[in-house]
Amino acid sequence: MAKKQGIASAPKGKLGILLPGMGAVATTFMAGVMAVNKGLAQPIGSLTEMGRIRLGKRTSKNKPLIKEVVPLQSLKKVAFGGWDIFKDDMYDAAVHADVLDINLLNKLKSGLKKIKPMKAVFDPQYVKKLNGTHVKKGKTKMELAEAVMKDIAKFKKDNKCDRLVMVWCGSTEIYIKEGPVHRTIEAFEKGLKSNHKMIAPSMIYAYAAIKMGIPYANGAPNLSCDIPALVELSKQTQTPIAGKDFKTGQTLMKTILAPGFKARALGVDGWFSTNILGNRDGEVLDDPDNFKTKEVSKLGVLEQILEPDLYPELYKDFYHKVRINYYPPRGDNKEGWDNIDIKGWLDYPMQIKVDFLCRDSILAAPIVLDLAIFLDLAKRSGMSGIQEWLSFYLKSPQAPKNRYPIHDIFKQLHKLENTLRYIGGKEIITHLGQDYE
Ligand SMILES: NC(=O)c1ccc[n+]([C@@H]2O[C@H](COP(=O)([O-])OP(=O)(O)OC[C@H]3O[C@@H](n4cnc5c(N)ncnc54)[C@H](O)[C@@H]3O)[C@@H](O)[C@H]2O)c1
Repeated sequence: MAKKQGIASAPKGKLGILLPGMGAVATTFMAGVMAVNKGLAQPIGSLTEMGRIRLGKRTSKNKPLIKEVVPLQSLKKVAFGGWDIFKDDMYDAAVHADVLDINLLNKLKSGLKKIKPMKAVFDPQYVKKLNGTHVKKGKTKMELAEAVMKDIAKFKKDNKCDRLVMVWCGSTEIYIKEGPVHRTIEAFEKGLKSNHKMIAPSMIYAYAAIKMGIPYANGAPNLSCDIPALVELSKQTQTPIAGKDFKTGQTLMKTILAPGFKARALGVDGWFSTNILGNRDGEVLDDPDNFKTKEVSKLGVLEQILEPDLYPELYKDFYHKVRINYYPPRGDNKEGWDNIDIKGWLDYPMQIKVDFLCRDSILAAPIVLDLAIFLDLAKRSGMSGIQEWLSFYLKSPQAPKNRYPIHDIFKQLHKLENTLRYIGGKEIITHLGQDYE
């Protein structure tokens, strides 16, 4: 039998990673990659760097690194850029974010100092708690999108990049519901020219990237590229996209635990989740309009995993509540606390408590890396539109029209792994066959 060929072309030259929003997550990501490149730390949490994948039957015991199966961009050949409403270079921004140890940051100082944010597309109407001065001026939103495209072209040239990707790491914007202006490319472009108020800054960056064929991922829960107009544009320009909202602390735990309860036919009466965090993200989410966006993103998960319509005896009236409390002393070291009321045999109630003392940006940074590296792989593989196989990384995954998103982390992993096998020209594993291997 002829050997199957992988579908991705090999990466050439440098990959530019562009980040709108250069706060805690973005600086932890960039400093982390620099630290890894200098041999100062391990890229823990990143599948593109450390993950393995099974190939063939279990008996062949073949589990190479993912990066040996598909051609991924080397971390040694990346350049970073981005935009923020504050002028701080990446050293000062990382010190302000107070995530990484100052001794580590000092070892990376010269590299971090060189990265300075470009002027942002920003309007405080969409992020009520922030106001910055490092902001672009333009008569229309279309002019602002064109200015972002100019920034991108200049960055690519100045940094001698072969290809680019963009990952939104900006603040969570106020809740916006999809409306007519988001439905078609024509309506959206008209809206950009007439300063339609339902077009938020994150959509302007997304439009600029996708128009230029640059893969785009959205790490926040705001709509951004999750609107029909930008999905359509992504197909037209052959651009892979992914969103929304990095799946990091509490929701990661939820999508690990809930599939387990469901798998064992255990009931759930209620799931109360609360968080305390004190970083800038926490401050932004202290505003009800911005929190609403996050709340919608966090609430959707259980409904889809538990499917109360199909299992009314187990989940019909389950009560799900999510709170986020801004509590400055905690900084980036969030505490996510869950009380889960479950029920077993003959309706007997039980409780589970989860207290996750996590670090927000430490969990998010490897997700930024994997999304950037995998989206670049998708682009080189000729894939475009919504990349559902990257749902694994996202709290509120974008799904094609008329299809529900998958939240169960194990199903997401299965899809991710099989997509990688497909891209690498390897056999898909279905767990079926002669001996159920
Ligand atoms: N850390 C996590 O675990 C996690 C998980 C899921 C989602 N997120 C989301 O990731 C995003 C980043 O989180 P963070 O902790 O780094 O927050 P942060 O407040 O430290 O950084 C966000 C940065 O975005 C900038 N910004 C806001 N609007 C902008 C715009 N229009 N253009 C350019 N810059 C803009 C802000 O000035 C700020 O520096 C947030 O939306 C957050 O909700 C984080």
